[in-house]
Amino acid sequence: MTSTSDARGSGLGTARPEHLGHVVFVAAAAAMGGFLFGYDSAVINGAVEAIRDRYDVGSAALAQVIAIALIGCAIGAATAGRIADRIGRIRCMRIAAVLFTVSAVGSALPVALWDLAMWRVIGGFAIGMASVIGPAYIAEVSPPAYRGRLASFQQAAIVVGIAVSQLVNWGLLNAAGGDQRGELMGLEAWQVMLGVMVAPAILYGLLSFAIPESPRFLISVGRHEDARAILEEVEGKDVDFDARITEIETAMYREEKSSFKDLLGGSFFFKPIVWIGIGLSVFQQFVGINVAFYYSSTLWQSVGVDPTDSFLYSFTTSIINIVGTVIAMIFVDRVGRKPLALIGSAGMAIGLALEAWAFSFGLVDGRLPATQGWVALIAAHLFVFFFALSWGVVVWVFLGEMFPNRIRAAALGVAASAQWIANWAITASFPSLAEWNLAGTYAIYTIFAALSIPFVLRFVKETKGKALEEMG
Ligand code: GLC
Repeated sequence: MTSTSDARGSGLGTARPEHLGHVVFVAAAAAMGGFLFGYDSAVINGAVEAIRDRYDVGSAALAQVIAIALIGCAIGAATAGRIADRIGRIRCMRIAAVLFTVSAVGSALPVALWDLAMWRVIGGFAIGMASVIGPAYIAEVSPPAYRGRLASFQQAAIVVGIAVSQLVNWGLLNAAGGDQRGELMGLEAWQVMLGVMVAPAILYGLLSFAIPESPRFLISVGRHEDARAILEEVEGKDVDFDARITEIETAMYREEKSSFKDLLGGSFFFKPIVWIGIGLSVFQQFVGINVAFYYSSTLWQSVGVDPTDSFLYSFTTSIINIVGTVIAMIFVDRVGRKPLALIGSAGMAIGLALEAWAFSFGLVDGRLPATQGWVALIAAHLFVFFFALSWGVVVWVFLGEMFPNRIRAAALGVAASAQWIANWAITASFPSLAEWNLAGTYAIYTIFAALSIPFVLRFVKETKGKALEEMG
């Protein structure tokens, strides 16, 4: 495998580690936060109508209740870096697990709309934390030659979480006779949908007890012997540990201490590397990926699918998302992050442009003409496929590994927070943009997909096979 020789080339003895199975388990356990991220952010789709009905709210207020969770995500992401640097990655996971659990119980049993919104914000906070801790932790415990693949567990878990939430929603809706407020186990169906998350949330908390703290964090707090034991587990026994620890430590203190100050530099407030992370995050969202997930029923209905079946149909989008993600996992350490991102940008731009073309024919009674309807449907799936095999995986992998050790968690927090704000901007603006002009909306997303190509070519550095200590 080429990446292995790259890693050797960088002076690390990281050929096939003896304990690869263990590293895979550790990465998978940490990625459980990604599963909760995917499940929690998508599950609400199955509950929207019931919430509207039960609390008798208008669309605008409802949209606020839903969008407010994304603001919780942004705040959670922004603070997770600091928390992780203070108390460690593992304790941060435990806090997120507790918040996920509390939010699942609270959202399932709200007394009114205001506390439902509050539980969703708490859940959002946990998602934001998990979106930072997962990639940072996995990058820090992975041997370089496998780091891309292991870090992509996070995105794999996110897409599986989205898919599972669609299946759960569809199954529970059917069990409740097609009514989101239908009775199930003494509750209404939508309450069960939100409450089911308790199980993976508790599992996430339990798994955090079975995995080690990040060696890079341990070194930063002077626990060298503990760090040595963990490095031995993940990088194999043929590594010169004293040299590795010195290398990590030197890289860590190359820059001035103090976490937030480290992110600053130059005239534009943040250092260029932090801006590049923010740029990756914003482009990932501005191509409109979550419109494909959060508003998929608009698309299905435009080709004549019955609204009640749209959850099941949306599941096919998730399958394509999963297939694309697996392809990315296979190639991320072989061809590298940059080529994947560029291929994805080109494919996404084509898919989005075709969607814009199809919608330019206009909807009659909510439907496109037959041919354009099929083009829109195929183009939307082409877009999701290209996103999944590129920007979906690559951005989370890059964010986990592209920053120097000293600022990793804090910088990742800023970049992930920007991503949640961008996600909120796109999902909150879609309904008005769609009302204005669907073709125009997709044309805007096409422009962002196209612009992401020069952005990657000009600003993003390949990280494949490099040691974390070489970043910056
Ligand atoms: C990435 C994005 C997330 C999106 C998902 C879809 O994880 O960050 O916003 O929902 O991909 O697969």
